[in-house]
Amino acid sequence: MKVILITGASSGIGYTAAKLLAQQGNQVYGAARRAEKLAAIKEFGAIPVSLDVTDEASVQAAVKQVIDQAGRIDVLINNAGYGSYGPVEAVPLNEAKYQFDVNVFGVASVTKAVLPTMRQQHSGLIINISSVGGRVTSHFGDWYHASKYAVEALSDALRLELKEFGINVSIIEPGGIKSEWGGIAADHLEKAGQGTAYAAQTKKSATALRKQFSNPMMVADPSTIAKTVAKAVKSSRPKPRYLPGMVAKSMVCLHTILPTRWFDRIMLMAN
Ligand SMILES: NC(=O)c1ccc[n+]([C@@H]2O[C@H](COP(=O)([O-])OP(=O)(O)OC[C@H]3O[C@@H](n4cnc5c(N)ncnc54)[C@H](OP(=O)(O)O)[C@@H]3O)[C@@H](O)[C@H]2O)c1
Repeated sequence: MKVILITGASSGIGYTAAKLLAQQGNQVYGAARRAEKLAAIKEFGAIPVSLDVTDEASVQAAVKQVIDQAGRIDVLINNAGYGSYGPVEAVPLNEAKYQFDVNVFGVASVTKAVLPTMRQQHSGLIINISSVGGRVTSHFGDWYHASKYAVEALSDALRLELKEFGINVSIIEPGGIKSEWGGIAADHLEKAGQGTAYAAQTKKSATALRKQFSNPMMVADPSTIAKTVAKAVKSSRPKPRYLPGMVAKSMVCLHTILPTRWFDRIMLMAN
């Protein structure tokens, strides 16, 4: 049995991973902001923790709750995140900064809070839920991709510096997954484009995004990522990177082998 803290557990990938990990006999602490939604994790024996990853005091209190109650922390899963879609010219810089506050500094903040305990234990696993969007870039995903590319770099650097303390760092890179994510990204995109030179294109892309995320043939079930998370948690030698799903694998492969202009053309056609 491992003591696991997972952020973003009120919905989607985080909720589903919390459920699977709890069913596998781990002591799971699931964290998020919306207390009413998060309460559902109690049904499968996980423990709700109030957390806003952008609020330092909230992060400290959440990690303290886990360590006070469980006495240790074996796995941190940095999963909380959202997609702030929209063209650079149209997205207010405050929103872009908030995207980084949640997706990047949020990861750093919770990681910093658990590290003293993991170092003392001389063991631990940090799993950062990045995205295939941390390897390839889609139309109008500017700040989201920038944040996930940053998560990739941060995770790779962390893995090097934490090795001597017996702490592993893994990155998981999902492709399109059915969750609240698609609707939130589409709302941001449409709002950002309104009244700008990008209005027609952003509206079209937002509609395509909503259509994609409501079609079970075009997005995978969150359980696919939950299984990958569980595999990393169980492994005695977790991989630095997990890229689950054929679509995500194909995209990264095409991005690697094709000239950039050709890949750009594919991404524009996908809109
Ligand atoms: N769905 C996809 O296609 C996809 C693909 C690749 C990567 N991902 C990544 O997977 C992760 C999970 O996304 P999902 O698809 O499961 O989306 P989701 O259903 O929207 O879940 C996002 C979770 O993050 C939490 N969250 C957001 N802001 C937060 C904050 N400031 N503090 C604490 N928690 C916060 C939300 O809870 P509260 O609102 O209750 O706080 C929610 O539990 C994200 O990092 C996302 O970028 C998703």
